[in-house]
Amino acid sequence: MCGIVGYVGRKNCTDILIDALSKLEYRGYDSAGIAVFEKGSISVEKAQGKLSNLCSKMENGHKPVGKVGIGHTRWATHGEPSDINSHPHGNKRVTIVHNGIIENYKQIKEFLEEQGYSFVSQTDTETLAKLLDYYYDGDPVETIAKTLAEVEGSYALGIMFRDFPDRIFAARKDSPLIIGVGKDENFIASDVPAILKYTRDYYLLEQDEIAVIRENDIQICDLHKKPIRKELQTATWDVDAAEKGGYEHFMLKEINEQPVAIRTTIAPRIADGMPSLEECGLTAEELMRFRRIFIVACGTAMHAGMVGKYIIERLARVEVTVDIASEFRYRNPILTAEDLVILISQSGETADTKAALMLARENGAKTLSVVNVKGSSIARESDYVIYTHAGPEISVASTKAYTVQLSVMYLLAFELAYANGKITEEECRQHIASLQQIPELVTETLECEKDCQMVASKLMNAESLLYIGRGLDYALSMEGSLKLKEISYIHSESYAAGELKHGTISLVTDAMPVIAVATQMDLYDKTVSNIKEVKARGANVVLICKKSAEVDPEAADYVIRIPDVEDLMTPILAAVPLQLIAYYTSVLKGCDVDKPRNLAKSVTVE
Ligand code: AGP
Ligand code: GLU
Repeated sequence: MCGIVGYVGRKNCTDILIDALSKLEYRGYDSAGIAVFEKGSISVEKAQGKLSNLCSKMENGHKPVGKVGIGHTRWATHGEPSDINSHPHGNKRVTIVHNGIIENYKQIKEFLEEQGYSFVSQTDTETLAKLLDYYYDGDPVETIAKTLAEVEGSYALGIMFRDFPDRIFAARKDSPLIIGVGKDENFIASDVPAILKYTRDYYLLEQDEIAVIRENDIQICDLHKKPIRKELQTATWDVDAAEKGGYEHFMLKEINEQPVAIRTTIAPRIADGMPSLEECGLTAEELMRFRRIFIVACGTAMHAGMVGKYIIERLARVEVTVDIASEFRYRNPILTAEDLVILISQSGETADTKAALMLARENGAKTLSVVNVKGSSIARESDYVIYTHAGPEISVASTKAYTVQLSVMYLLAFELAYANGKITEEECRQHIASLQQIPELVTETLECEKDCQMVASKLMNAESLLYIGRGLDYALSMEGSLKLKEISYIHSESYAAGELKHGTISLVTDAMPVIAVATQMDLYDKTVSNIKEVKARGANVVLICKKSAEVDPEAADYVIRIPDVEDLMTPILAAVPLQLIAYYTSVLKGCDVDKPRNLAKSVTVE
């Protein structure tokens, strides 16, 4: 999830590009770079790390001077964060900045190599830049249209052609892009905050549109060069709100980013309707040789592992043990070279998870990490890595990182179950098709926001809460409970619904609300019986169930429904109301949602 910007006008653009990029650093800061038309040619400056590194590099070296340019702040997906992988990419004739993933970059690269092109970076973006160069015929819009017809994946692009030094070009599909409209100057940007200092007026570039931007002229067309007229939008946000995309908190923004995050995470791991985890270096044959799997992580990431255990064991019939990293590292676990240890971590820097990884390696086990931050310690130290593509997660309370971790657990379960012969190719394809539906269904699930807000208003004064569920619902309820206590400071516990009567039910009174997750239809009636048991003790019950579930009016005070989907896939959807209930409870209580007390985003100490 990178940030891109561009400027065409009368002012010296280097400082404007840098300033605009500084508003997009929340989208990633693996590296930064700019390209500026300077004395008839394209001058490129880039540097690994935060934008400030690029600034110091230019202060001590060359700072381009010109009135037309593009810029980029990177959150690496293909190729480690490094100077060479930093954007802009291209050659003296065509230079681009890109946000997104080119899924068929390998094929494009092979084709271009046969045509005599060579590549300096490991990025997918460079292949697109060189394909534009390959198709270039003197007509930039024609060239862009022809190139994009060959490209699979997502992109927001800023493009400069050497032969057209008075303009920049833009195009997009599945990554955002706006065109800022100023007086004698125009802009492109991934997000509104980048341009707010200069103008509030902008056009939203839509799917498959191409724009040509000059100082006093903006032309937009479709891929067939048919002109498109746009309505001018006006931003009403202040600069602070804009960095949160208009949302009041990063947490709410990140909850809403989940459909895109999941789509971006799963798309590159599906080939011809089947799971494909080859890019992490782990083949299906190797995967099926492991005798046992350990999943080790902390907090939310460990909860993703709990769901992983249920689905891997259910589908692939391989034994999975889930451990809290701080326990695993000191419990002298029995590990052998036949074991796979999966480490899950958003930051990739959590001290206990890192220590668990080292322990697994010392004991000869193979290690696979599921990590969001590129190039982080855990990713570097493990044998295999699957990157989740959630983009930067800023709110301390993890939301989108959790659901993308779940998506990877599904991919792993499908791959392993198929390799083990526990599911047929047909069944595997069906599972993958269901997973591909999930982003859209998450968007639909987000419509429960108002209901969650109402439920939060009923819970906010409770001193303590219980979350209950069975099977996958129990695994998920652990995360629901953590979310609530971490940001609203209300005590809560998650409990296996059937276990309540062995002690915990003695706590239940009318002062202890219960959130019951009941999405597993084979266990539905059993969970409903447990709900009745708590209702009989006076509890107020919030029931989270599927749209088509029959609900006995006696069984719940409030019902929140998620879209109908097969039981195996419900945790990603049911996570959404749990996140929203926690969010609104925190907001109503006036807590610091994004930065809850006593916590840090990345726990790098033991
Ligand atoms: C989640 O809301 C928490 N902030 C926390 O439990 C977090 O998931 C945990 O610290 C693990 O972090 P990691 O994923 O970066 O390793
Ligand atoms: N895939 C490109 C890269 O790795 C862009 C990354 C992004 O937009 O997240 O450089």
